[in-house]
Amino acid sequence: MRRIILVFVALLLLHCKKVPPAPTGLVADKVMVVSARKEASEIGMEIMKRGGNAFDAMIGTELALAVAYPFAGNLGGGGFMVYRMNNGDVGALDYREKAPLSASKDMYLDSLGNIIPGMSTIGATGVGVPGTVAGIFAVHEKFGTLPIEEIIQPVIELVDQGVEVTDKQAKRLDSYWDQIVEVNGDQTLFYNKCMPGDTLRYPALANTLRRIAKNGRDEFYKGETARILARFIQEKGGFVTEEDLARYEPIWRQPVIFRYKDLKIISMSPPSSGGVTINQIFKMIEPYNIGQYQHNSPEAIQLFTEAARRAYADRNYFLGDPDFVSIPLDVLLSRDYLNSRMESFSFQQATPSSEIERGTIPAYESSETTHYSIVDVQGNAVSVTTTLNGAYGSKLYCDELGFFLNNEMDDFSSKAGSPNMFGLIGAEANSIAPEKRMLSSMTPTIVEKDDKLWLVVGSPGGPTIITAVAQTILNVYEFNLSMQDAVNAPRFHHQWLPDYVTFEPEGFPDSVKELLKKKGYQINENRTRIIGKVDAIRVLEDGKLEGGADKRGDDTAVGY
Ligand code: GLY
Repeated sequence: MRRIILVFVALLLLHCKKVPPAPTGLVADKVMVVSARKEASEIGMEIMKRGGNAFDAMIGTELALAVAYPFAGNLGGGGFMVYRMNNGDVGALDYREKAPLSASKDMYLDSLGNIIPGMSTIGATGVGVPGTVAGIFAVHEKFGTLPIEEIIQPVIELVDQGVEVTDKQAKRLDSYWDQIVEVNGDQTLFYNKCMPGDTLRYPALANTLRRIAKNGRDEFYKGETARILARFIQEKGGFVTEEDLARYEPIWRQPVIFRYKDLKIISMSPPSSGGVTINQIFKMIEPYNIGQYQHNSPEAIQLFTEAARRAYADRNYFLGDPDFVSIPLDVLLSRDYLNSRMESFSFQQATPSSEIERGTIPAYESSETTHYSIVDVQGNAVSVTTTLNGAYGSKLYCDELGFFLNNEMDDFSSKAGSPNMFGLIGAEANSIAPEKRMLSSMTPTIVEKDDKLWLVVGSPGGPTIITAVAQTILNVYEFNLSMQDAVNAPRFHHQWLPDYVTFEPEGFPDSVKELLKKKGYQINENRTRIIGKVDAIRVLEDGKLEGGADKRGDDTAVGY
């Protein structure tokens, strides 16, 4: 009798799971933008209300983030966009920074071969050739419908009117104030401390944007802006020259596409590791039906952790810029290979990372990236992750132009086997070479269900991006959470090395951690920062949109 009841309850649960969760985030009829700041989401929305599409909105949102969220929004960095047109066509744009022509493999090592502390992270020496402005113009050329001046104008107005400093923003600026002043001196705009409620204005940025709106892409790469920028970086001791700027090109790429049960997941291909790594994680967990376990239960945590451990070991060894290294994707993503990777997995005991090498084939980047998701009235979707790498990038702020410069050079592996600023251990595939793109973890992703647009999702968080994106998709699909609840749910992370599981501070009972410890898992008791900051959109059964704006930041969904 007990057995029958158990089977009945199991069937009931299985049936219940099929009912999609009711939305708990903002619901809009047709159009939505979710980004790290309300001002940026509103500009994207405004552009679409004026008749622009998701790609026009992408350009406005990207630039507005440089104004409202200089922590990661940028003109001096780069990023990746994955898109899906309403007819099902998909593609991806790589506007990642690249190494300057003078770069060399050992450029951050001293005469004894040791990494020179800070050289790839703080100040002009860490700056890679920025890709953002080239990226937005490439998007405009291929898909834009409104004139570029009309798209940039609301951003210029935002710069002129200024942005209100939020509590979280004031805290962030305060915690990086020493470094920003150390790099830029006491004449920099950011020398003046910002308090919550203050208005942040950058007159120089308005001038830069006006020149870009008038003269186009070449203004940033070959014009007056290029000359000011190259001179500034070099005077500060950096490597980027006018020639580097003039040679920069973004690249349209094929995204990584794979199936997980009845989902089709479309994500960013190398030089981002995001798509390949989530592909490996999903395919390694697929045979185990993770949805049978409770959300964030020890079993679900174990399964995800063991798949992530194995996937990150491969990521750190095999992945790099595909224009420079050959990546054995056909093997790395094959069913047989991924099954064999999980042969040593057992629910009884953790697999120590020392026993996991790359397959019979290392890393921690920054958490200070930003992601936004957009769906337009025609059903076109864009998923964009953009970054300066560290918080305020290299901290180098060009007062004459009004923006921060990246420290993306630290995403290369400066010395094989040594961790970068985020603990990621790199290998030869990601070594430095002139004009090479540094490996990324950015994972802008679009998910189809039944061949229709279903989720648009992405996150900041360096290597934890991959984890945050994968767990958010699983939260909706396997654990039946609404978009907003899936984004807010507590997250955990494992990246092969260092060999520990990091849990967010809230949401994981001691009993779960104790049980995992007994099975041999090491728990990172110290580093309990937030893991990712996801901004996502779910298409509901009736075609309306639910926003998931991460409660961990000032993130905001707007829609109509
Ligand atoms: N700089 C963070 C990333 O590209 O993953």
